[in-house]
Amino acid sequence: MIYADHAATTKTSRAAKEAMIACMEEHWGNPSSLYTLGQEANELLQSARERIAGCIGAAAREIYFTSGGSEADNQAIRSAAYWGARRGKKHIISSAIEHHAVLHTLERLKEEGFEITLLPVGEEGIVKVSDVAAALREDTALVTIMYANNEIGTLQPIREIGALCREKKVLFHTDAVQAVGHVPVDVQADQIDMLSLSGHKFCGPRGVGALYVRQGLPLRSLIEGGAQERGKRAGTENLPAIVGMATALEESCAHMDGDAAHMSTLRDHLIAGISQIPHSALNGSCDHRLPGNVNFCFEGIEGESLLLLLDDRGICASSGSACTSGSLDPSHVLLAIGRPHEVAHGSLRLSLGKENTMEEMDTIIREVKDVVAYLRKMSPVWRELEKGARNYVIQ
Ligand SMILES: Cc1ncc(COP(=O)(O)O)c(C=O)c1O
Repeated sequence: MIYADHAATTKTSRAAKEAMIACMEEHWGNPSSLYTLGQEANELLQSARERIAGCIGAAAREIYFTSGGSEADNQAIRSAAYWGARRGKKHIISSAIEHHAVLHTLERLKEEGFEITLLPVGEEGIVKVSDVAAALREDTALVTIMYANNEIGTLQPIREIGALCREKKVLFHTDAVQAVGHVPVDVQADQIDMLSLSGHKFCGPRGVGALYVRQGLPLRSLIEGGAQERGKRAGTENLPAIVGMATALEESCAHMDGDAAHMSTLRDHLIAGISQIPHSALNGSCDHRLPGNVNFCFEGIEGESLLLLLDDRGICASSGSACTSGSLDPSHVLLAIGRPHEVAHGSLRLSLGKENTMEEMDTIIREVKDVVAYLRKMSPVWRELEKGARNYVIQ
């Protein structure tokens, strides 16, 4: 099997698993308990907080553990929105290509009377800093722009947006779920006020994440109950997962340069190979892109069929269509970069990890070429394109 869907999830690293097992076997006490077993667990919890903080340039007291990226996004955005609303600021700026954890939270806030501006991204899939500047208003409570896109891998100008927001005294949150552990992230240098991360995107376990909140900023609890996480997130801490996440993040950051160089070599080889397919196009910027992300559109085929046939050939990949939700709506990200519906349906995302090899890339290129040719042979749309009854969108 060739696994090329690391943006969906990653395999938990050996070091993370070992740390989790040790935690479950030796430090299984409740961190809130006062006896030694509990206090040892609490020490482990605080050390995990320090380790996570250290990887993103934060202080330990600025890290709050959550159940993952979605919860961190929800909590950051709602906290900033309600804090703004109390000061008469009910405007939020975001982008059209955010993850649904952000977009759906913003939709709910809109129903509650907030005004949302979703910035366009152009065909490169990148937010313009000048657009953020132009959208800022007196009543803007929050700017929330993702660090790296989960579908097309585009890296956003976070440092410039951070500087702009700090200058204008507007809170800045970034969903860095796809970036942390893969590209250098420094909340101080980037002037980020709030940042979401998720364990399972960098070889940690699933169901655990963290929210960084700059010291002194307002944070509101989404879950009421005990006083865990300084009263900002009730519930007995999932210590094994937290320790696994801290271990995985330190490991990813320690090997980041080498891993990124390896993955970008594979990525560029894959892009060059797949580009040979006629009427195919890379989605998103070539230059400002996560090291492991490849995303293509192909004319005349359906992404779902492509995925199923690749699965038959032992390749795990992903498509932009929201097949998990049972709908065949094309990806909002591909639509936002200007792909028409029919082309956005024929998309393929390959997201690489450090264990992928060049031989695997050659296999993927061969199989993708073969499967695309096979599907096109059966496609009525492709036949019309070939006959000239329809125009190609991708030349
Ligand atoms: C950009 C982005 N944000 C948020 C999430 C949600 O993270 P989690 O699965 O940890 O809730 C994901 C997961 O795919 C993501 O890619």
